[in-house]
Amino acid sequence: MRAAAWLAFGLFSADVTCAQMVARGRHAMVVTREAHATDAALAVLQAGGNAVDAAVAAGFVLAVTHPAAGNLGGGGFLLVRFHDNRAAFLDFRERAPLAASRNMYLDAEGTPTRESLTGWRAAAVPGTVRGLELAHRKWGTRPWAELLAPAIRLASHGFLVSYALARSLRQAKVLGEFPESRRIFQRDGRFYEPGDRLVQPELARTLERLARHGARDFYEGETARRLAAAMQAHGGLITLEDLRRYEALERPPLRGSYKGWEILTAPPPSSGGVGLLQMLAMLETTGYEKAGAGSAAVVHFLTEVMRRYYADRSRWLGDPDFARIPVQELLDPVYVAARRRTIDPERATPSESLGPGELPTAESSETTHYSIVDAQGNAVAVTYTLNGSYGCGVTVPGLGFLLNNEMDDFAVKPGAPNYYGLIQGEANAIAPGKRPLSSMTPTIVLRNGRLAMVLGSPGGPRIITTVLQVFLNLVDFNLDLWTAVLRPRFHHQWKPDAIVVEPGFSPDTLALLRAKGHRIEEARSIGEVAAIAADEGWWVGVADPRAEGKASGF
Ligand code: GLY
Repeated sequence: MRAAAWLAFGLFSADVTCAQMVARGRHAMVVTREAHATDAALAVLQAGGNAVDAAVAAGFVLAVTHPAAGNLGGGGFLLVRFHDNRAAFLDFRERAPLAASRNMYLDAEGTPTRESLTGWRAAAVPGTVRGLELAHRKWGTRPWAELLAPAIRLASHGFLVSYALARSLRQAKVLGEFPESRRIFQRDGRFYEPGDRLVQPELARTLERLARHGARDFYEGETARRLAAAMQAHGGLITLEDLRRYEALERPPLRGSYKGWEILTAPPPSSGGVGLLQMLAMLETTGYEKAGAGSAAVVHFLTEVMRRYYADRSRWLGDPDFARIPVQELLDPVYVAARRRTIDPERATPSESLGPGELPTAESSETTHYSIVDAQGNAVAVTYTLNGSYGCGVTVPGLGFLLNNEMDDFAVKPGAPNYYGLIQGEANAIAPGKRPLSSMTPTIVLRNGRLAMVLGSPGGPRIITTVLQVFLNLVDFNLDLWTAVLRPRFHHQWKPDAIVVEPGFSPDTLALLRAKGHRIEEARSIGEVAAIAADEGWWVGVADPRAEGKASGF
């Protein structure tokens, strides 16, 4: 089936078919937001590699074929759950350079500048290469170089640019600001057309060095030296010392439950897992779902739950290596019940009148997510990012990869909104070596001890509410995975005080929400889910039609 109807709404890419977005497999499944990455990961599984091997291959391919978010110059999180019930979480989030300082992005009047968003000084120390290598060293079964081979091939021989990629590269103003990015991705103004071949020889050489020497090349070797030299030449902060010191960390996954579903998700420095679990806890006993999926009553109640979590997020969440993050308190049933009691089922609570809770003791957004299940039943959920689309816009000359602008995920000025309009507090202020707070929410769900779902999404702060809604669509509204992903989504993040809605809500619903006191804003789309669910002995994979992804299984 061609996705013609959806083209009218601009949601589907012209060269993607519905057939690619949904797949069934008896044994294994891969869902990513780019077809070459899905194909490469699936080939690894078919050759006997496990889900971690496949995740490493997909991560490097996306760095070639999805330059807006796939990356070597960014960071992310990897959640794995093995068939024997062990689980682990790798944090390869970027870190602030040692020369970073609390007020580095404020001008003389104390006003935030654009420097946290664009250009060399916006980049935090990348973690992706270290993170993928750590995953491979701990759990991989195929040779490292074999897993980089598809990415090297695609970078050196090129691949055909899709309609959506051509449009994205043309529209990315930030790429036009930096000569190397403009040369590689915009051909100095002779923009790529759909069907043109994008060849990235500098990136291919970098990937070849990584295949030969491992992550050491990126953090201590030739790539490190060239990156640090370019930083110094352009006023950036990242030094050889920053790169040498960068570590990816293993942390315990955050665990919770909802109506008998067991949830494994992202701990701090992500705010995603805490948010998902707190919002679910606020919903669990309410019977909110009885009003029906998409009804004004359900949207209102979920909005109030979202508003309360994002208010808490603004104060309490940050890097756990720098301050104690009160995760248990934020999920404490007594605290959650007290927050729930402040919800009026008839009226919106103005965000101005609602602050973060007092605890008992005490984020075009571009990221990308992919989900993999292998034939042994191991599951991997990876969300990684450059933060903004194409990160800070800088491609390191001669190295071929883009750098992140993750420094803007810090509270550049506590109390002032960031790129995503998010208000954040002292817990997320800039400090040397600190990891900025994230919303990335790679999540794995179990039922009766068996793997039931693998999901996640890009979208900055909208990631958490996207994952929440897809999960609730499955669990509370009994929708199949395709419909659960397809349904229009909404988002509220406390401030700005508005429900952001996708097209597809009925005018009647929106009128009822306005009557309850909500301000409504429209968004073209919210999140891009890559999800896998168990279904009567099959794996069903769904690549969100909001992007041009691909699900494939066997
Ligand atoms: N850069 C988006 C996030 O980590 O939430």
